[in-house]
Amino acid sequence: MNDVPASPQLHTLREMRHRALQGGGPLRVEQQHARGRLTARERLDMLLDDGSFQELGALATHDVRDFGLERHRYPGDGVVTGFGKISGRRVAVFAHDFTILGGSFSEVQSRKICRIQDLALESGIPLIGLNDSGGARIQEGVRSLAAYGEVFVRNVMSSGVIPQISLILGPCAGGAVYSPALTDFIIVSENSTMFLTGPDVVQAITGEKVSGDDLGGADVHMGRSGVAHLQAWSDAAALDLVKQLLGYLPQNNNEDPPPITPYDPADRIDLELDSIIPEAENQPYDMRKVIGHVFDRDSLLEIQPRYAPNALTGFARLDGFSVGIVANQPTHMAGALDIDASDKISRFIRICDAYNIPIVTFIDCPGFLPGTDQEYRGVIRHGAKIIYAYCEATVPKISIVTRKAMGGAYVAMSSKQMRTDLAFAWPTAQIAVMGAEPAVRVLFRQEVAAAADPAKRSAELVGHYREKFFNPYRAADVGQIDEVIEPHETRPRLVRALEVLRTKVQQNPPKKHGLIPT
Ligand code: HXC
Repeated sequence: MNDVPASPQLHTLREMRHRALQGGGPLRVEQQHARGRLTARERLDMLLDDGSFQELGALATHDVRDFGLERHRYPGDGVVTGFGKISGRRVAVFAHDFTILGGSFSEVQSRKICRIQDLALESGIPLIGLNDSGGARIQEGVRSLAAYGEVFVRNVMSSGVIPQISLILGPCAGGAVYSPALTDFIIVSENSTMFLTGPDVVQAITGEKVSGDDLGGADVHMGRSGVAHLQAWSDAAALDLVKQLLGYLPQNNNEDPPPITPYDPADRIDLELDSIIPEAENQPYDMRKVIGHVFDRDSLLEIQPRYAPNALTGFARLDGFSVGIVANQPTHMAGALDIDASDKISRFIRICDAYNIPIVTFIDCPGFLPGTDQEYRGVIRHGAKIIYAYCEATVPKISIVTRKAMGGAYVAMSSKQMRTDLAFAWPTAQIAVMGAEPAVRVLFRQEVAAAADPAKRSAELVGHYREKFFNPYRAADVGQIDEVIEPHETRPRLVRALEVLRTKVQQNPPKKHGLIPT
């Protein structure tokens, strides 16, 4: 083909395409690399299966003439959009090109992104956004602001229908963080910052001198704000995480996640589990270890691992099938529930429910964190989200009480009455309205005070209470626990239970939408 001279029309097209591949030019590309970041096209090359990318809108340019913008017209206008495949599965993608006007968001960008959002939703395939953008293109004024609205409405219409995954791979500002915030997952790279208002603008308005990292580096969003779900040390690692994450998700809400060929025996029993709960009642143990023993080897992908570490959420595999895990983590705050943990857990449950992923819940929780700080900040409405999300979810749900299930935590953490399909408990379970000491204080204050030896009487009553409630047998007796199992049996039990529940059908009453407490 190369021997045949190109017609003038073909020559023009090839030249335009060639220009589109250059982004903002060699100098800008060099600067991008010097900052430790890849270009939009390099990222897409890494993300997508070889030769699978089909670009759309490569030649689109803007027509704005204000602020000298007419001198900065680049084919593609700072975003690369199209379709491709990841591990053979179809996906829609867009990638901001920071080398063109800082990847700033324009009307043309909006048209291109909206086009693939529409096609992704109609075709029922995941949308992946590679964000590296200074937000609304300042020179375009209201045109770029309005253009964001077009993207937001599509983010929301796609929510819960097709998985939407956002990568933050550079300094993202304004709408370039609001659109990701409307998607299902945010993956931040080490080189990323996310803020609504950039450092220069902050200083101009407030006089405060802050860096991008202070405002919203990866650490801020993984550890403090809860905005991000996964973190990677480089662009390449972030792109790998997308592939891993997609493996647990279906193409859309009408499909189940794709199972993989099982590689860990379904009937594997693990005797180590029988001694994993420490003898001393208040001694912590790592719930990650329990999960590691029960689910397919090395299959756990923790979501928001550093935010609210007193709760654990993540995807794993059981006999090759994708499952969502919710657990208390006794190594942090004894696994107590607080506001942040409630937000983390409830959102994760809703993601699993939206995408047909069964939920397995491990409970070891002394209750909701008491005190004015939590009450003033609304632990009631935040905690209620967990209850709401479990009650609303129609996917298969299985719970396992490993140790404490006290009061609100027993009810909130996937109790049987909240449409949990199967409730298991280990023999170490303690199911009660509250701990022994506070219970004795409430019930027997006068009796203890009147006793000849109050400390002795209190200890007796505490002992009596523990004997009565600190086991799973009362709950099993009244049917609130379906079966008390030996810890080592957990894996085969779960495999069999999920096998049965795979065809579960449950529906909620028709409504416009519910009102989850926020
Ligand atoms: C136009 C922009 C731009 C923008 C960056 N650039 N952001 N151009 N509109 N929003 C341009 C810069 O002028 C520069 O051009 C080039 O991109 C690279 O930017 P630098 O500043 O040199 O890069 P860096 O030092 O890495 O800083 C990146 C940045 C900073 C942190 C993103 O540029 C910044 O603070 N930008 C503004 C961020 C912001 O506040 N955006 C909010 C927009 S409002 P030259 O030619 O000089 O190299 C918004 C509202 C949406 O989005 C509504 C949501 C509800």
